Amino acid sequence: MTKKLLSEIPVLKGDRITLKALTADDAGALREFTQNEDIYRMLPTFLFEKKYDSAEYVISRLYDECIKQSLILGVFLGGSFCGLAEIYGYRAVLSKASAGYRLLPQYWGQGIATEALGLMVKYVLEETDVNYLTASTMLENRASAKVLKKNGFKQVAHALPENWGFKFPVLTDKWLRTAEGHRRPYRFQT
Ligand SMILES: CC(C)(COP(=O)(O)OP(=O)(O)OC[C@H]1O[C@@H](n2cnc3c(N)ncnc32)[C@H](O)[C@@H]1OP(=O)(O)O)[C@@H](O)C(=O)NCCC(=O)NCCS
Repeated sequence: MTKKLLSEIPVLKGDRITLKALTADDAGALREFTQNEDIYRMLPTFLFEKKYDSAEYVISRLYDECIKQSLILGVFLGGSFCGLAEIYGYRAVLSKASAGYRLLPQYWGQGIATEALGLMVKYVLEETDVNYLTASTMLENRASAKVLKKNGFKQVAHALPENWGFKFPVLTDKWLRTAEGHRRPYRFQT
């Protein structure tokens, strides 16, 4: 039987990486992460890990407050924290959720985001009640677009203006991956 998304905190193991809950021990690494502006240049300004100043407090609220809307897992390579993977925008009635990922720059270019998204796709579309996984990228984020394409996402909208919390709307591309064997077309909603 399929699980309801957000009803559990899964541990997702890949060939090289593991996606799992952050613990208090990760506070130092999360603090370094959230302070790195290079990571957040092409991301919305309102991500949960930035909601509170204290990284310890953010972690303490991830799996009670945040989990009501969004599942944020740490991405670990050989035990080291290298970034965050997020499943958000869950709409049970539409059988839809969205995926996001962000890594420390020293881990870019090694296929880690591709592997992290692959684990999220497998978990969400094979083990939960979600049949449609979507993603949004800023137009200029070619690396992220590549990560999505390598995981079988198709572009379903181009250059849509959205409020990501910056002074001006940003232009975004929208991406979709549908569960294997699920035939009903997704009704894309802005
Ligand atoms: C986007 C991000 C997650 C990619 O992570 P990553 O682990 O480096 O991604 P991968 O190595 O799995 O794949 C990236 C692909 O994009 C390619 N790429 C990297 N920069 C690129 C660029 N400027 N233009 C085109 N392709 C690019 C890489 O060559 C690679 O493709 P390849 O496997 O064919 O060589 C990472 O750069 C990041 O955390 N950025 C900041 C946060 C962010 O933008 N998150 C996504 C928001 S939608």
